[in-house]
Amino acid sequence: MANLLVLSSQPWLIPLLLWLLTAVSALQTHATQKERILQILQDYDVNEWPDFQYGRPTVVDVQMYFNSFGSLSAANMDFTIDLFLRQRWRDQRLAYSGGLPSYTIIDPQLQQKIWKPDTFFDNVKQASLHTVTVPNVLLRVNQSGDVLYSLRLTLTLTCALELELFPFDAQRCFVKLSSYAHMDNVIKYYWWRQGKALEIDENIEISQFDLLENYTEERTVVLTTGNFSGLTAHFALRRQNGYHLLQTYIPTILIVSISWVSFWLDPNAVPGRVSLGVTTLLTLTTLASGIRQSLPPVSYVKAIDVWIGVCMIMVFGALLEFTFVNYLANKKMVDSRLPEIIHLPRCLAGYPEIVEDPIAGEQKKEGYGSTYIFYARAVDRLSRIVFPGGFLIFNLIYWPYYIILQRAIA
Ligand SMILES: *[C@@H]1O[C@H](CO)[C@@H](O)[C@H](O)[C@H]1NC(C)=O
Ligand SMILES: *[C@@H]1O[C@H](CO)[C@@H](O)[C@H](O)[C@H]1NC(C)=O
Ligand SMILES: *[C@@H]1O[C@H](CO)[C@@H](O)[C@H](O)[C@H]1NC(C)=O
Repeated sequence: MANLLVLSSQPWLIPLLLWLLTAVSALQTHATQKERILQILQDYDVNEWPDFQYGRPTVVDVQMYFNSFGSLSAANMDFTIDLFLRQRWRDQRLAYSGGLPSYTIIDPQLQQKIWKPDTFFDNVKQASLHTVTVPNVLLRVNQSGDVLYSLRLTLTLTCALELELFPFDAQRCFVKLSSYAHMDNVIKYYWWRQGKALEIDENIEISQFDLLENYTEERTVVLTTGNFSGLTAHFALRRQNGYHLLQTYIPTILIVSISWVSFWLDPNAVPGRVSLGVTTLLTLTTLASGIRQSLPPVSYVKAIDVWIGVCMIMVFGALLEFTFVNYLANKKMVDSRLPEIIHLPRCLAGYPEIVEDPIAGEQKKEGYGSTYIFYARAVDRLSRIVFPGGFLIFNLIYWPYYIILQRAIA
């Protein structure tokens, strides 16, 4: 009676009391939920698979959500992914009535007491489960006994890269999983049937690559130890050409062009032309070794090898051309009237200047001396056209060929 009097005199107490009541009742359902699970687990055998009593395999639905898709490493032939691996199966032994619609098991010891599929990744090199700030594990059971088991993993997976067309290549990589110990009469894997099996974060950026295609496959692995159910997720990737265009192709084009400067220098400018030729050759070698370091030592010829090879030949050719020109410029001529007998086209012969010969005191055409310098100059003039022209023709073949091939395979 006294209580009621207090309530009527202090009306604000009513909501407070109601809140207290709901809080207490919530606490109670939670407590009973854990008790219920503990009770279920008393006669639960973790070694028996959920459908053991029905004599059929347990169906495990798998979904992958990709947070990141790391760059493909050509040198190591692998790639790194960060994903949520979600597995779902029905364990009717865990079904309960009443209580909460679903129950999340947090206690790691309790988690261990529940049967889980022994999924492993066939092509994994390195794997880790994230444990910051707590192990990233979600284990949820609902009233019908459906278990959702989600893990956050970082995996480094092998991917056999084919580099014949590098850097115009396209690659196919996959994530393969299956059961390690349970044959297909115990576990049967399926890709997630209620929605998308592979979910890829929209903002995902794969360095140097475009993700062209993704698809899933269910498979059975036949081994000497038995037949195992497994899943495969396939990814088709195409390399973006921008990076190598900026880092490799443009610098090498510039180096090759610089080696042509030599054709405009005097045939007798030995220090200038030798240092130009040797420097460009060395720079190209350094660039090539830098590229080689990021690639595995495969025995076949790659598209980049063709390019570097031709650039080397161009630069080396310019150096050889100088050697020849310098030899001509210094070789004594047997018959000094030779240039007048053999007429070169005007574009090669140029317009020799008339110079005063200080000794003979007469005018003579420059270049028509006692050596073959006239011819040396002609060779230089020819090279000014032949070298850039040859390089241009090579480019006109190289680029369309590899770009078309890249589009054809991906
Ligand atoms: C348990 O979860 C599964 C899958 O999400 C669902 O199909 C089923 O209806 C749920 N059962 C209950 C009782 O909520
Ligand atoms: C993966 O494939 C699905 C279906 O083929 C497609 O809808 C989705 O856009 C693809 N995702 C990416 C990131 O390409
Ligand atoms: C595995 O599958 C093959 C056919 O795919 C079958 O012949 C063989 O008996 C199976 N082995 C086991 C242990 O089930």
